[in-house]
Amino acid sequence: MSLRYLTAGETHGPQLTAIIEGLPSNLEIDFEALNFQLQRRQKGHGRGRRMQIEKDAAQIVGGVRHGKTTGAPVALVITNNDWKHWTSVMNIEPIEGNDETKRRVHRPRPGHADLNGGLKYNLKDLRNVLERSSARETAARVAVGAVARQLLAQFGIKVAGHVVSIGGIVAPAPNMDIDELIERTEQSPVRVADPETERRMIELIDKTKADGDSIGGVVECIVTGVPIGLGSHVQWDRKLDGRIAQAVVSINAFKGVEFGIGFDAANRPGSQVHDEILYSPERGYHRATNRLGGFEGGMTNGEPIVVRGVMKPIPTLYKPLRSVDIDTKEPFTAQVERSDACAVPAASVVMENVVAWEVAKAFLEKFGGDSMEEVRANYDNYLRQVAEY
Ligand SMILES: Cc1cc2nc3c(=O)[nH]c(=O)nc-3n(C[C@H](O)[C@H](O)[C@H](O)COP(=O)(O)O)c2cc1C
Repeated sequence: MSLRYLTAGETHGPQLTAIIEGLPSNLEIDFEALNFQLQRRQKGHGRGRRMQIEKDAAQIVGGVRHGKTTGAPVALVITNNDWKHWTSVMNIEPIEGNDETKRRVHRPRPGHADLNGGLKYNLKDLRNVLERSSARETAARVAVGAVARQLLAQFGIKVAGHVVSIGGIVAPAPNMDIDELIERTEQSPVRVADPETERRMIELIDKTKADGDSIGGVVECIVTGVPIGLGSHVQWDRKLDGRIAQAVVSINAFKGVEFGIGFDAANRPGSQVHDEILYSPERGYHRATNRLGGFEGGMTNGEPIVVRGVMKPIPTLYKPLRSVDIDTKEPFTAQVERSDACAVPAASVVMENVVAWEVAKAFLEKFGGDSMEEVRANYDNYLRQVAEY
């Protein structure tokens, strides 16, 4: 059974729920490490009041016993603390009242799912769309990815993320190993390793917030310790770079993705794009460079995976854009829901965990077994085969 998950829950509902299926038994779950990922998602300079209300923690309600997976589906729950203010508005039973008491939304916000979702699902209260399309759902995805990265960690695979740019301010490429990058970005409220860039980004976020506007940016995820051969060239939907790209663009507000030198490949001759193949007895096959971000033919080539995603500016603006009221068809300025000015640092955490999930899924496709012991044996056997090749 391949690894899969589903999430459910609304931003002002009682909780987010995720079910993961396909994890092997005997994977030790570090609950603290799981909640650490959720807390990382809530931080970052530029976030609004909602993140101060929520103190996310995942409760595992199935599939884990005495600290280890049992092979059964793992069910996770993240409570929404804000729910207590929304029990009537978000009640699953019908409630009495007018638009105001139901907090009905009839002015769709540009840049959001509101209008498309309202038309598609024939919902005259756009709250039914925005409650689910909200990026609150990414908390569930982070929890799921946090479990995946624990599986990867058992095999020495590390995942890091950092912010490359915010609102046009570009950080210098971090020239450091993954452990130092993790340590440095963890200290930074904008998740950059360079203090001068951090200062300028914070200044820009504050100015943008004061102007009632928002800004986006670019985030990068790096995965090290990946064996050669995750993903496959033989079928389009087995190409791991393609699957990671889909997962990254599925994160709310992500509009593009690139691997390695990415779009710059279009500007260079082939000799400055492709990574030459080297061999040494100590390292086996490896590359002189990693311009292609760890992929050839939809498969990992043993170099770190380097993937970047671009996040558009947050669409909800305190200086709202024009929209049309779905009741009157009159032009209106869009309704404001509580919002962040910049969520790029938080999005970097989401991306890390989303990428970790895709890598773990491909890992289990290659080395899959019903228990961790079986996965380990398959992995060791493959490494032996590669070494003897
Ligand atoms: C971590 C994170 C936080 C976000 N916070 C907000 C927010 O506070 N306000 C907002 O309007 N959009 C926010 N977004 C973006 C919207 O959820 C997203 O733009 C919207 O759902 C429409 O989806 P699309 O941009 O992918 O088309 C956030 C996205 C992420 C990844």
